Amino acid sequence: AIERTLSIIKPDAVAKNVIGQIYSRFEGAGLKIIAARMTQLSRAEAEGFYAVHSARPFFKDLVDFMISGPVIIQVLEGENAIAKHRDLMGATDPKKAEKGTIRADFADSIDANAVHGSDAEETAKVEIAYYFPALNVYSR
Ligand code: CMP
Repeated sequence: AIERTLSIIKPDAVAKNVIGQIYSRFEGAGLKIIAARMTQLSRAEAEGFYAVHSARPFFKDLVDFMISGPVIIQVLEGENAIAKHRDLMGATDPKKAEKGTIRADFADSIDANAVHGSDAEETAKVEIAYYFPALNVYSR
């Protein structure tokens, strides 16, 4: 089915100047960028976005990292977009990510892991709504 998923290019990948290379991988896999914005997240925004992880030991480092520089947030649309995007990203820990994935190629650590992607249909809905009011999403 045609799905939408939320993608974030994290501060490490923005700093490495690989935004275009990551966008090319999305496009090459048939995923369409239907909304996008560059922003510097506030602490409150990052904490709200990652609220499900608030009890985890890595929460503070995760939030500190996500506000350490600008990010690019986009909605990707396409056939099987959620799983396709996760395949392109590779495993959360770049040391475990398969060769040729975004994280294997551009990420340095489990915190500085280049990209975020929604993990399921329900989270995709919540995550898209968090960053994009419906009116700013263009599907064509
Ligand atoms: P992301 O997909 O953005 O979702 C939560 C982030 O927490 C994850 O990528 C990692 O960058 C970060 N993180 C740090 N430590 C861990 C861990 N042990 N397990 C999962 N995520 C972690």
